[in-house]
Amino acid sequence: MTKARTLVERDRAALWHPYTQMSSPIPPLPVVKGDGVYLVTEDGRRILDGISSWWVNIHGHCHPTLTQALIDQAHDLEHVMFAGCTHPPAVALAERLTQLLPSGLTRIFYSDNGSTAVEVAVKLACQYWRNKGQPRRHGIIALEHAYHGDTAGAMSVSADSVFTAAFTPLLFPVARAHAPYCFRCPLGLTRATCNVDCLQSLEAQLEQRGDTIAAVIVEPMLQGAGGMIVWPAEFLAGVRRLCDRFGVLLIADEVLTGFGRTGRMFACEHADITPDVICLSKALTAGYLPLGATAVTTPVYDAFLSADHSNTFFHGHSFTANPLDCAVALASLDLFESADVMHSVRRIERQLIDGLAPVRALPAVGDIRVIGAVAAIELRTDASARGVGGYLDRLGPHLSKAFLERGLLLRPLGNVLYFMPPYVITPDEVTWCLSQITDVIASLDSPGT
Ligand SMILES: Cc1ncc(COP(=O)(O)O)c(C=O)c1O
Repeated sequence: MTKARTLVERDRAALWHPYTQMSSPIPPLPVVKGDGVYLVTEDGRRILDGISSWWVNIHGHCHPTLTQALIDQAHDLEHVMFAGCTHPPAVALAERLTQLLPSGLTRIFYSDNGSTAVEVAVKLACQYWRNKGQPRRHGIIALEHAYHGDTAGAMSVSADSVFTAAFTPLLFPVARAHAPYCFRCPLGLTRATCNVDCLQSLEAQLEQRGDTIAAVIVEPMLQGAGGMIVWPAEFLAGVRRLCDRFGVLLIADEVLTGFGRTGRMFACEHADITPDVICLSKALTAGYLPLGATAVTTPVYDAFLSADHSNTFFHGHSFTANPLDCAVALASLDLFESADVMHSVRRIERQLIDGLAPVRALPAVGDIRVIGAVAAIELRTDASARGVGGYLDRLGPHLSKAFLERGLLLRPLGNVLYFMPPYVITPDEVTWCLSQITDVIASLDSPGT
């Protein structure tokens, strides 16, 4: 009798994984079950999911309430196209979201992931000005270190990087402004004494070409894939002020930050601002199903109302507003109310700040950034053995392996190690994760690492 092939062997014969050099892939983790903050592997290991499965999972894996909501909805209506049809979960979710979002965001346009939520935002912004008789305004200003997704429009507004390099000929031109990356301040200043002077670069761009700009797009308070860069709230407030001054739309990409991740339900709340357009996905369905939502203000929506059909927003996806997705998203919002989820996020934040204080002193550590249920540790890359810094730094795979051996799933962005657990993680589990992180970082100073 031939031995049954493992999941990894079958995977290797049939699959192509994202962001993975398949000529020499590290074997994928064969996950057969989810259980709260844990992933269970084919060979029975319980691995703590320290990055919320790509930042999407907030209430833990296989949460009974969410699973039940999915089953119940599947009995009623699994899918219907959303042009010319509507259904209860889509309407109820839009009603809930417009209540929860920063005030003034009154209309929801659904799509099906983070990149499409961004594509919708960028296309909306461009057509908004066309509909208003200003077709010259189609430019976008994005920030350095930005990451907004992998579709062509989302890549265009992302920073040039290893993610976009092969596709440059396909991308549209975008103006760039400084991000408030305090550890590597673009102006060489120090946060304690600066006046968020990095904002002047956006101001200069707007002064130079403001009348051709449709929108400024930012990841408010936390730039994710670009290195887990945490912002001063003053920068975000300043972006809003500049957009108002130059009459430009502000798009807040809250695909990562939305739904409590930064300690507020939406990161825009840190600066008490309302963007003109906001992009949501990831934790919108608590990590169960892919769903995107782009919310806009009434003036943006109104610019599309016209007897002229060419002013219609011609955009949609087969799975736009999928009822299963919307039902789970609603159940997730119920959990926010019944379980005081934001209290858990603030508790995690305090524990991360306190627990990482001693780590700051380790020689390998350059910077530590904490916001809400996210901690990032930027490691120094000056030792030649540790590679070049940035996403391709070989410290990343080295660290992933070391943590996996200890039962913790982390996926560093090159030399930036980050921890972003589901909010249901217990204080003891956070303590355990922090001790693994401390040990592994401390070991980096040993020769040969
Ligand atoms: C801020 C931000 N925007 C957009 C995206 C793209 O989302 P998706 O991977 O669902 O397409 C991501 C993904 O990491 C993100 O972090």
